[in-house]
Amino acid sequence: MPGAAMSGKLRPMRTMIAPFPAAAPVSVAPMMALTDRHARYFLRLLSRATGLYTEMVTTGAILHGDRSYLLDFDAAEQPLGLQLGGSEPEALARCARIAEQWGYAEVNLNVGCPSDRVKNGRFGACLMLEPERVADCVFAMREAVEIPVTVKTRIGVDDLPHWQGLRNFVHIVSGRGGCRDFIVHARRAWLQGLSPRENREVPPLDYAVVSRLKNHFPDLRIVLNGGVGSLDETAGHLRNFDGVMIGRAAYYNPWMLAGVDQRFAGMQAGPSSPHQVLRDYLPYVQRQLDQGARLIHMSRHLAGLFQGVPGARRYRRWLSENAPRTGAGVEVIEQAMKLVPESFRVADKDHKIAI
Ligand SMILES: Cc1cc2nc3c(=O)[nH]c(=O)nc-3n(C[C@H](O)[C@H](O)[C@H](O)COP(=O)(O)O)c2cc1C
Repeated sequence: MPGAAMSGKLRPMRTMIAPFPAAAPVSVAPMMALTDRHARYFLRLLSRATGLYTEMVTTGAILHGDRSYLLDFDAAEQPLGLQLGGSEPEALARCARIAEQWGYAEVNLNVGCPSDRVKNGRFGACLMLEPERVADCVFAMREAVEIPVTVKTRIGVDDLPHWQGLRNFVHIVSGRGGCRDFIVHARRAWLQGLSPRENREVPPLDYAVVSRLKNHFPDLRIVLNGGVGSLDETAGHLRNFDGVMIGRAAYYNPWMLAGVDQRFAGMQAGPSSPHQVLRDYLPYVQRQLDQGARLIHMSRHLAGLFQGVPGARRYRRWLSENAPRTGAGVEVIEQAMKLVPESFRVADKDHKIAI
């Protein structure tokens, strides 16, 4: 909505849950080894309106692997997007169709991951250098499905002039490919010499170039990603962008998401306390245990919930020492939460926990 971006006013509150993650005011970034289905179920208890994504799944894995293991999710996780890694239009189109049949609300193409494994497979961030190919991929995927096909990208790769490169990329992928929704991680990716982790920290953030992109393509939805650490920062970015995607901050301090629904989606306030979130999570944990999952698979996502609260360290230690034990059950989480007083004040409007 360019008008809001130019006037500097906050856009009107939405009163409905966004139908697909990139349309949500706030989303949680796809993160390998972090945003698995247990994490997503837990995050959903903190916010109804936040868009959620799977970890990246490659087309090869979906076409040749255990689909149920890779794709199954709980209906409560919606709105949920599947992030795909790949660069072959036909394979991506087949996977998009499978994703739609599986019930996903969006398919997102990864054009931002810089790892060697991904580079060798010729997908991820190196695809920024092949906008025509990305356009063909997106076109094929859009032809195959009704659900939105979105692209997550960086602002550039290596030391190539990034504004021209980014503008050209978005021009081709939106024009020839028909993509309307771009999630932009506001950093370049260095294809040589930096590990994936360093690539999330070393290249400086450049929000201005993403803002320029939004002004240049006012009709496209542009979601900002990278380095957003609080809901106050999110509110600031929502003046310029159609949505904000939060990765590490949301995972390591998930309580921040409890403020999203009321503040950005015009919905009822989120959960009243972190303890309440855990109590709501327990029946899910029990169901998963009954189906053969181990407690650690669910409890590992809970470590950051009480960040900054007295007792948080004891809580984390209790979980990490007891959850891996054979036969560990929900009582480990029940005991852990007793180590944090329920009486602390959750007052800060930014949903940082105050004491
Ligand atoms: C552990 C980890 C795994 C990630 N895996 C993916 C991934 O599978 N697909 C992807 O597009 N980005 C992935 N990312 C990048 C994030 O989606 C996001 O772009 C990045 O962390 C910047 O956002 P943040 O500063 O809010 O964390 C990953 C990030 C982390 C920390």
